[in-house]
Amino acid sequence: MTSTTIAELPWWDLAEVADHDAAIFGPTAWTLGYYWSVKAQNGTVMLAARTASAGETDVDGTATDSEFTASTGELAGWIVMSGAGAEADVMTIATTEAARGTGIGRALLQAGINWAKDRGSEIVHLEVDERNAAALGMYASFGFEEWGRRPDYYPGAAGILMRLRIGD
Ligand SMILES: CC(C)(COP(=O)(O)OP(=O)(O)OC[C@H]1O[C@@H](n2cnc3c(N)ncnc32)[C@H](O)[C@@H]1OP(=O)(O)O)[C@@H](O)C(=O)NCCC(=O)NCCS
Repeated sequence: MTSTTIAELPWWDLAEVADHDAAIFGPTAWTLGYYWSVKAQNGTVMLAARTASAGETDVDGTATDSEFTASTGELAGWIVMSGAGAEADVMTIATTEAARGTGIGRALLQAGINWAKDRGSEIVHLEVDERNAAALGMYASFGFEEWGRRPDYYPGAAGILMRLRIGD
């Protein structure tokens, strides 16, 4: 049995995330240096999902805080959010190839939205490659709506600008 925990990404895991990022995003990946600079910015949060097998959790399947502060478990995905005033942004989100299609992306996006709500944001923005069917499907299922496009923002493809109102 495995369980998944989402927690703030500690600095000592940045290199692991940057390695996965390079494999997933190729030429548009964030460098390790860029991860460091974003982590140092006020108004940002990095959350990581990790999956742990039964031996790494309590008998009832619940991970304890102390177990996961040591980054127990395999990295399954991460999300980086920023917020200023009433506006928040999904700066990046990804799940590892092994973890895809198991609900981790949805859980991370929900965690990012919760973070934005908790800090008083009223709207969440993001940008996505028009060819990215998986991400577009996930954003649409949360209620994100397209409000603009940046032609040729990606090599040979437009960037779709989406937003979700989360204020009451
Ligand atoms: C987009 C991404 C984060 C989704 O993560 P995931 O863990 O596979 O997603 P989940 O299993 O939580 O699925 C969430 C929803 O995404 C959508 N989705 C996921 N895979 C999909 C696919 N291959 N085609 C269409 N929709 C898909 C579905 O709406 C799904 O909801 P459902 O299972 O209730 O139908 C993942 O595909 C990824 O990391 N891609 C590479 C990086 C990337 O493109 N990041 C986004 C940049 S804007």
